[in-house]
Amino acid sequence: MNNDIRPLNIAICGFGGMGNWHRETIAKIDEVRLAGIFDIDPARQAFARELGIRVYGSWHELLSDDSVGAVTIATPNDLHRPLAIDAFRAGKHVVCEKPVALSSAELAQMASVADAMGVVFTVHQNRRWDEDFRTVRKILADGTLGPLFRIESCVLGCRGIPGDWRQLPERGGGMILDWGVHLLDQLLQLLPGDRIATVRASVDHVTNELVDDGFYAELGFASGVAAHVEVGTSHFITKPRWMVFGRDGSAQVDWGCKGRIVCVTDRSRNDAVPIRTAAGLTKTMAPRTDDTIREFPLPPVKSDICEFYRNFAATIDGRAQIEVKLPEVARVMRLMEAVRDSAASGETVRFES
Ligand SMILES: NC(=O)c1ccc[n+]([C@@H]2O[C@H](COP(=O)([O-])OP(=O)(O)OC[C@H]3O[C@@H](n4cnc5c(N)ncnc54)[C@H](O)[C@@H]3O)[C@@H](O)[C@H]2O)c1
Repeated sequence: MNNDIRPLNIAICGFGGMGNWHRETIAKIDEVRLAGIFDIDPARQAFARELGIRVYGSWHELLSDDSVGAVTIATPNDLHRPLAIDAFRAGKHVVCEKPVALSSAELAQMASVADAMGVVFTVHQNRRWDEDFRTVRKILADGTLGPLFRIESCVLGCRGIPGDWRQLPERGGGMILDWGVHLLDQLLQLLPGDRIATVRASVDHVTNELVDDGFYAELGFASGVAAHVEVGTSHFITKPRWMVFGRDGSAQVDWGCKGRIVCVTDRSRNDAVPIRTAAGLTKTMAPRTDDTIREFPLPPVKSDICEFYRNFAATIDGRAQIEVKLPEVARVMRLMEAVRDSAASGETVRFES
């Protein structure tokens, strides 16, 4: 780091699981420094004190501290909008946890206050730094698979929806807002400039009636690419994290960047010997012979989530452009609304067409 640059003082509001993750991350980065935390829960305040962290007595006290340049908001989702607006009005820059708000209208209101106050406002779409996502992005950039026609992004667990505020619609619960926001954001990053023409979606209520405990969405892009996004919490057998299909090859990318790429090397040798499967015979689905395909390892990709805060601090200093931009976040918010609309109506929803 340039020694002339003073670290940005950040306070965390909401010191639960993710607030503590932000504390750990901030501690690894020279460009930012933890000023303290505020949480309404005495147990979390006590935990912070045990760690030797300053605990503000109130939200007002935190916002009145002129040494605090920025606030990270890591409270339940319904509080993001009011707390972020308070912070903007106090002249603080803000990192807000995902989902930034409960609707695109709420986000528009937040953005207009941030704009009026001239502060930097970004959202913790940290999964843009996931190495599996970056591996898929590299495969697409390399053109290894030929023209893309289908991409599938799945995150499946088997513990149901957590038993906290995530079960309540008024608090911003449900899996569309929880994991869907990450998967849809990643997907849109993979296909820059491609308009989404149609959205068809369905939600699950396996263990929870009030909010969706899983969903799938089929997105049709103007380019002809089809995308499948799926989140589930009652899946005792999972699917690959990513499947990517191009005309000349397919890729499977799993958590931990395990996976493989298989490409065709000689398309002209297409003649297949029929194989027997169960009670029938098939030529169409007969596997290719090894001498007409080739398997490649996944390209190595490295990523560092500390870049998120480095970029935030550099943007405030006027040395960088913010990585997670509000128009991108707003597009994902509108897309989640289209997913809900389609699931509620059972119809395909036209989106950017
Ligand atoms: N980006 C990610 O990878 C990721 C992962 C998990 C959670 N999150 C997000 O982080 C946020 C917090 O999730 P979590 O899992 O840490 O939840 P959590 O329930 O563990 O923590 C929330 C904390 O906020 C505190 N709180 C509630 N009301 C408050 C208020 N008015 N002022 C100050 N503190 C208040 C609670 O006491 C609690 O300690 C959510 O928006 C969630 O979607 C993001």
